[in-house]
Amino acid sequence: MYQPNLFAGKTILVTGGGSGIGKAIAKQYLQLGATVFIASRKLEKLENALTELGQIGDCRYLELNIRDVESIKAAAQNIKEQTGRLDVLVNNAGGQFPSAAELIAPKGWNAVIETNLTGTWLMSQTFAMEFFMPQKEGVIVNIIANIVRGFPGMAHTGAARAGVDNLTKTLAVEWAPYHIRLNAIAPGIIKSTGLDQYPPDLLKGLESKIPMKRLGGTDEVAHLALFLSSPLSNYITGQTIYVDGGQSLWGDVWEVPDFEPKEKI
Ligand code: ADE
Repeated sequence: MYQPNLFAGKTILVTGGGSGIGKAIAKQYLQLGATVFIASRKLEKLENALTELGQIGDCRYLELNIRDVESIKAAAQNIKEQTGRLDVLVNNAGGQFPSAAELIAPKGWNAVIETNLTGTWLMSQTFAMEFFMPQKEGVIVNIIANIVRGFPGMAHTGAARAGVDNLTKTLAVEWAPYHIRLNAIAPGIIKSTGLDQYPPDLLKGLESKIPMKRLGGTDEVAHLALFLSSPLSNYITGQTIYVDGGQSLWGDVWEVPDFEPKEKI
């Protein structure tokens, strides 16, 4: 639907680009001519994704821990050496685990906040200063979650994602003079590997609780990332857009889990 060369000559970094929504986003940028860096902590995931994505276009990978400032700085340096510029940062990497709020231990809480909120912040600050501010041009797309009614069952990620939602607004205003645009995407329940971390019981019958009566596709999230980072959205900044089949307008989709949390992020 977009011009085939819409992102030709553009360099794009997608964190968490080795799987799920991140990989779908990377794939669509590649199809439209971009050079795409996919980043993850997990080398094996990156290598597997590159086998597939490398057949579509100029895809490269970076080992990156978004909780580690030195790792982020090294990634920025690496991109600078390879392409000399960055046009779009997609902050997609994240992680959480379902748990009743009272059972979340400080370690698990901190890990989720550090990854989803602090990681997104450190990435945005570093890449804005290294690339977007000197270039006087850049786009950041933050992938968050449906937080309209809080996030019962995952208090930590709800708080972190709400933080990113707010950060998106603040930075959109502060960095507008540098021609940096920031927007966020809030996916609803998306059919992807990201759902694997949840117990099957939690996912049973979800479709019936979504107005459109189906889960979303990773491509449907990726389409919005393309739009928000293309010139078609040049006058849009500081917004969070829901890709959720109407779920956020309707109600909660799952019960608060009552089991012991399995912290794995
Ligand atoms: N995905 C989940 N956690 C991450 C991290 N700390 N760094 C990069 N990608 C991640």
